[in-house]
Amino acid sequence: MLYVERLCAGYAGGIVLHEVDLRVHPGSIQAVVGRNGAGKSTLVHTIAGLVRASSGRIEIGGVHVAGRQPHRVAQSGVGLVPQGRRVFSRLTVAEHLVLAASPWRAATPGGEGWTVPRILELLPRLAARLRHRGCELSGGEQQMLAIARALLGQPRVLLLDEPCEGLSPDLAARVRDLIGHLAASGLTVLLVEQQLRHAIEIADRVAVLEYGRVVYDRPTAEARSDPGSLEAIVSIAAPPPSPANRSTPRLWADTP
Ligand SMILES: Nc1ncnc2c1ncn2[C@@H]1O[C@H](COP(=O)(O)OP(=O)(O)O)[C@@H](O)[C@H]1O
Ligand SMILES: [Mg+2]
Repeated sequence: MLYVERLCAGYAGGIVLHEVDLRVHPGSIQAVVGRNGAGKSTLVHTIAGLVRASSGRIEIGGVHVAGRQPHRVAQSGVGLVPQGRRVFSRLTVAEHLVLAASPWRAATPGGEGWTVPRILELLPRLAARLRHRGCELSGGEQQMLAIARALLGQPRVLLLDEPCEGLSPDLAARVRDLIGHLAASGLTVLLVEQQLRHAIEIADRVAVLEYGRVVYDRPTAEARSDPGSLEAIVSIAAPPPSPANRSTPRLWADTP
């Protein structure tokens, strides 16, 4: 569904992404983890058309979209949930939803697409906050709104840039549950996270980005069962161990 091949991109200061390859199958979750500055946001922005690819291919459902304007990429079925949510502080939840559900990308009548009622059924917390402005929402509510806004664009591929950043463990778990639910219902997900443990619980595949290069890309199950490869990820992507667990870093929720 999402196919990235030898993708290079960057800014006036230089190339950030170096020949990035990714292949994300329909309805699966591909995690991309990496340290701050590794190029994760540049990757999602390049796929979304916000940063111009200098070379390489980006295909959505077999259609080459690299070089298209961001609104054309969105029309091709790419939804972006940006880092830091980027909700409008002065607009209410209802206003955000009405804007996102603009007619040119509204669900077809009687079709399967996302509508505001369907969104509010999925996210009842937003229904309770319809009249509240963006600045009055909690971080978790803002994240739900950012995801709702992207869904109303009827994406086939959802790009989520650090959706759990700054959320309490409980809220982060709820956001992960939501992402898992969306993928289970057929949406293809590219999930960017700085922390491996946030991504690994729900991802089908995990890639590690280091200095703009993919240095690791394997099924999650394989990564879990291969301690050698795990160490490679740990050294790159794990946060420094706290004094309490310095000798045995605990990355996986189910590791004793
Ligand atoms: N708009 C920009 N203009 C110039 N350089 C940028 C811009 N955005 C990011 N960069 C640089 O690109 C590199 C990767 O940044 P980014 O993709 O934001 O990393 P990450 O999301 O993994 O933290 C960093 O060196 C950063 O300084
Ligand atoms: Mg980033």
